[in-house]
Amino acid sequence: MALVNLIFILLFLVSLVYSKVTLENSGFESPPTNLTTNSTSQFILLDTKTNRIPGWSFNGTVWYVTAGENVSLPGNGHGVQLGPNGMINQTFKPDGNYDYVLTFTLAPSSPDCANSTSVNVSGPSASEVFFFRESLGTEMWQTYAYSLWSQENKKGLMSLQIQSTSNSNNITCWPIVDTILVTGIHGPRWYSDNGFVNSGFEVGPAFIENSSQGVLLEADSSYPDSSVQSPLQYWTILGIVKYIDSKHYAVPRGGRAVELVSGNPSGIVSSVGFLKHGQVTIDFIMGDANDSCVGDFLVFLQVGDTMIWNFTMRSIGVGSREAHSVTFMAEFSNTESVLISFTSFNETRTSNNVLCGPVIDSTVLRFSDGLHSKAHKDIGLVTFSFLLAMTLLIFV
Ligand SMILES: *[C@@H]1O[C@H](CO)[C@@H](O)[C@H](O)[C@H]1NC(C)=O
Ligand SMILES: *[C@@H]1O[C@H](CO)[C@@H](O)[C@H](O)[C@H]1NC(C)=O
Ligand SMILES: *[C@@H]1O[C@H](CO)[C@@H](O)[C@H](O)[C@H]1NC(C)=O
Ligand SMILES: *[C@@H]1O[C@H](CO)[C@@H](O)[C@H](O)[C@H]1NC(C)=O
Ligand SMILES: *[C@@H]1O[C@H](CO)[C@@H](O)[C@H](O)[C@H]1NC(C)=O
Ligand SMILES: *[C@@H]1O[C@H](CO)[C@@H](O)[C@H](O)[C@H]1NC(C)=O
Ligand SMILES: *[C@@H]1O[C@H](CO)[C@@H](O)[C@H](O)[C@H]1NC(C)=O
Ligand SMILES: *[C@@H]1O[C@H](CO)[C@@H](O)[C@H](O)[C@H]1NC(C)=O
Ligand SMILES: *[C@@H]1O[C@H](CO)[C@@H](O)[C@H](O)[C@H]1NC(C)=O
Ligand SMILES: *[C@@H]1O[C@H](CO)[C@@H](O)[C@H](O)[C@H]1NC(C)=O
Ligand SMILES: *[C@@H]1O[C@H](CO)[C@@H](O)[C@H](O)[C@H]1NC(C)=O
Ligand SMILES: *[C@@H]1O[C@H](CO)[C@@H](O)[C@H](O)[C@H]1NC(C)=O
Repeated sequence: MALVNLIFILLFLVSLVYSKVTLENSGFESPPTNLTTNSTSQFILLDTKTNRIPGWSFNGTVWYVTAGENVSLPGNGHGVQLGPNGMINQTFKPDGNYDYVLTFTLAPSSPDCANSTSVNVSGPSASEVFFFRESLGTEMWQTYAYSLWSQENKKGLMSLQIQSTSNSNNITCWPIVDTILVTGIHGPRWYSDNGFVNSGFEVGPAFIENSSQGVLLEADSSYPDSSVQSPLQYWTILGIVKYIDSKHYAVPRGGRAVELVSGNPSGIVSSVGFLKHGQVTIDFIMGDANDSCVGDFLVFLQVGDTMIWNFTMRSIGVGSREAHSVTFMAEFSNTESVLISFTSFNETRTSNNVLCGPVIDSTVLRFSDGLHSKAHKDIGLVTFSFLLAMTLLIFV
């Protein structure tokens, strides 16, 4: 029994470490070299031969942009616009076994382009196209996150690249990018007796300082089934969710939570392995983000293929919350990964006509008898045996 307790203590002690990677000139506030100093134009076309953007390489048609008429940017400083074949890239040295998550801001070059602005963002192993979505924020710019996930072991340099999309549906609408941040999230996962990993959504992409817009997280089109490269560690995204911070929104617990904004569907999915059979309880908090989101929320909690519960809440948009709990018998085979999702299908809007929805936070999955309950699909017996061996060593 003492041994079991000690293992639990060890499990609780293993925790996540963040590392903020500092990209050079992440907000493009250091101007390109060799600019003609008397140029007052809001858009300055750069020449790959004579201009250099500190920290960045660029190619194709790239303009240096100053916020102003038609163009709004976080902090209203500078950004770059990517024209035909336009791309920027930067490499950085990874610092140990981290997962790297990118935060970036996308802005249209004029209000008319709000529905025709997109960029292609690439990490070392994959890429994803992001579209500006007018209906998801109150600013004429939006912040997104993308996992710079690497198929190879993280050695050598990590690269990130942002380029204009060749099939831009409006050739006058080239995208503007700004404020590019990278967060490193430490690899060895962490343990508790909670079957959900990253259960309070405290681990995820960086927020832009002073931004009240949150960070939009989208379903990954290329690897929809895997959570490895999700920007929100251990949760895959359905539709679009807004990652929100307690500085600017009502967050039920801790500093961060997710708001299911896109509807039809908008959700988060965790993959859980059950080591044994027995009675399981899932607790979570559902709320509104204090963003004037008025309406009837309806959230479905689904476990595996067959178990579904629904939860309703009338929101008046002032930051209310309700704790919920369900109990069921887990009779899954211990080799099976069970998908557990929180999903909303309905559309709700704030007083500014921005899409909004229920906030989910503080998820807990526990066997009712309290004993060790879970093995995440990535946390194998190997790790457990290692901890057991460590524990025995300490005792001998
Ligand atoms: C900058 O000033 C020079 C000399 O006064 C002028 O020839 C040039 O056209 C100006 N360039 C811009 C971009 O205004
Ligand atoms: C400025 O441009 C000249 C060519 O016009 C080039 O030789 C020089 O390296 C450039 N300087 C910088 C700092 O980019
Ligand atoms: C820049 O683009 C040109 C033409 O598309 C290509 O030949 C060249 O390799 C590119 N350079 C870099 C650094 O990507
Ligand atoms: C702002 O956008 C309008 C409409 O697209 C355009 O007519 C105007 O020239 C733009 N202003 C600037 C400074 O680009
Ligand atoms: C955030 O706001 C504070 C106070 O207004 C200001 O001092 C700071 O420079 C801002 N930071 C950024 C990145 O804009
Ligand atoms: C951008 O990519 C090119 C080609 O992949 C590479 O040679 C260059 O070093 C990269 N630039 C930066 C600043 O990382
Ligand atoms: C393309 O964008 C321009 C504004 O830059 C707008 O006037 C025009 O309607 C757009 N065309 C399409 C097909 O969306
Ligand atoms: C963008 O699309 C939405 C709905 O699809 C529409 O209400 C809005 O007017 C469009 N905006 C522009 C600038 O075309
Ligand atoms: C996005 O960029 C990557 C890397 O250059 C490329 O492999 C991919 O095909 C691009 N995707 C689209 C949709 O253009
Ligand atoms: C959610 O949407 C469905 C149709 O998609 C509708 O029947 C239902 O009434 C809506 N529920 C709420 C709470 O608005
Ligand atoms: C919600 O669950 C109840 C039973 O708990 C069921 O009667 C009802 O139809 C469900 N509502 C929806 C919208 O699925
Ligand atoms: C909601 O926001 C208002 C101000 O915008 C603030 O006074 C209030 O405390 C917030 N409520 C919650 C529950 O966070």
